[in-house]
Amino acid sequence: MESTPTPSRSNLSTSVPPTPKSAALRRSLRLTSSASRSPAPATTVAVDNLDTPRSTRKTKRSLAMTTNTKRIPKHARFHKQTDMENAKAMLLLATLPKSLPCRTREMEEITAFVKGAISDDNCLGRCLYIHGVPGTGKTMCVLSAMRNSKFEVDAGVPLRPYTFVEINGLKVASPENIYKVIYEALSGHRVGWKKALHLLNERFSNGSGVHKDERRPCVLLIDELDLLFTRNQSVLYNIFHWPTEPHSKLIIIGIANTMDLSEKLLPRISSRMGIQRLCFGPYTYQQLQEIISSRLKGLDAFEEQAIEFASRKVAAMSGDARRALEICRRAAEIVDYQLKQSLLSGRSSSSIDNSFGGKQLVGMIDIEDAIHEVFQAPHIQMMKTSSKLEKIFLVAMVHQLYRSGLSETTFEKIVDRPTHGHLFPSREYVQAQWVYDCINARIILPTEGYLVGRVPPAHLSPFVDNEAE
Ligand SMILES: Nc1ncnc2c1ncn2[C@@H]1O[C@H](COP(=O)(O)OP(=O)(O)OP(=O)(O)O)[C@@H](O)[C@H]1O
Ligand SMILES: [Mg+2]
Repeated sequence: MESTPTPSRSNLSTSVPPTPKSAALRRSLRLTSSASRSPAPATTVAVDNLDTPRSTRKTKRSLAMTTNTKRIPKHARFHKQTDMENAKAMLLLATLPKSLPCRTREMEEITAFVKGAISDDNCLGRCLYIHGVPGTGKTMCVLSAMRNSKFEVDAGVPLRPYTFVEINGLKVASPENIYKVIYEALSGHRVGWKKALHLLNERFSNGSGVHKDERRPCVLLIDELDLLFTRNQSVLYNIFHWPTEPHSKLIIIGIANTMDLSEKLLPRISSRMGIQRLCFGPYTYQQLQEIISSRLKGLDAFEEQAIEFASRKVAAMSGDARRALEICRRAAEIVDYQLKQSLLSGRSSSSIDNSFGGKQLVGMIDIEDAIHEVFQAPHIQMMKTSSKLEKIFLVAMVHQLYRSGLSETTFEKIVDRPTHGHLFPSREYVQAQWVYDCINARIILPTEGYLVGRVPPAHLSPFVDNEAE
């Protein structure tokens, strides 16, 4: 099997076995790349003007050839990466770590689930729900487990052929569009979401439209599953209902941050979701320390205490590995910049006081600076100092942006959003005017006069003194 991300869609990747077509494509790519190395590209001929003297022509041709080869500049080619530069690269979130420390048990559980489901003849009703706070390695573990099983298959371990489809709820324009994406991944055809839903229902219930050879199990990974929550919850219902259909052979892995998603779902959905759960707890400081150290293995760039300091700080706040890596990378950037500046100016900077064996390492003070930068950014400060109402408004705005999938929204769309179908008895439901009046009065007003269905008090301007008027 071979992983081939579909180039047309960023939110979708599938694993399919190698086909003669893909082999031919690879061959043609090889041919293209060797052709591009040829010293006589078509553009060179165009530069060759017949009116030009021979010597000038020669110079022009060689110039065109040089620019065409797009050579890497010499200084960049011979530049030996320093440990600090390598550390910066290793701490990038996009860098794939060689190992995933502290998540061995979780990886084993995911692998066992996938293998068990694939080897089950019917693959009926197989769902795994993974939850945990952000940055705890949920996505990375599932992708690594899937990659490892692909390597095993490549190495000759007998495992039934399967398809792997990965979808991120954050990247689909609306929850319903997920039908379109799933159908496209399974069939290769692009249709509207309503048609896709109809075809998927038919495909899974009676196997129509599926060639006999295509009836292999499909592992469907849905990241950010909670974003598919709709008013009537129909999208989540369909997704969790399909694995119970006789011809679906669908294995679902859902990932979300919400711990109590199943409690929020209608009973008919939570019962289909099954009981197989996997919780990714926040990392402890020792675990964060191990994660950072494993990325920096073999590099002389960080002091031990600096890594411990960053890990303790993040563990006390969130236990988010993403945050810990970002802080360390920023600290490495600060030190790298200082080093380069001091090299340029030809003198050792007076601020460099943590030199070790003639090298400068990232110390606690640099981590402190990085933390300060990350948490003292103007937008973070603004959020921290906002009032409760302003925070509620910001949260509502982010929610609306997630729902619409757009980067902009209007005030009306945020305040006039329809309420949920069911009401929670412990909550009070007020009209939007209560929010405006509270902001104007700068206090939390009693909600009684603003309850849904009542005529709210007159909405008065805060710029006019009503008593005086
Ligand atoms: N055990 C680990 N070892 C190495 N790197 C890790 C580990 N856990 C997390 N990371 C790093 O932290 C980053 C976040 O991981 P990931 O995206 O898997 O988190 P997540 O739990 O899916 O977060 P979210 O809920 O926000 O999607 C990744 O860049 C990953 O490299
Ligand atoms: Mg994730």
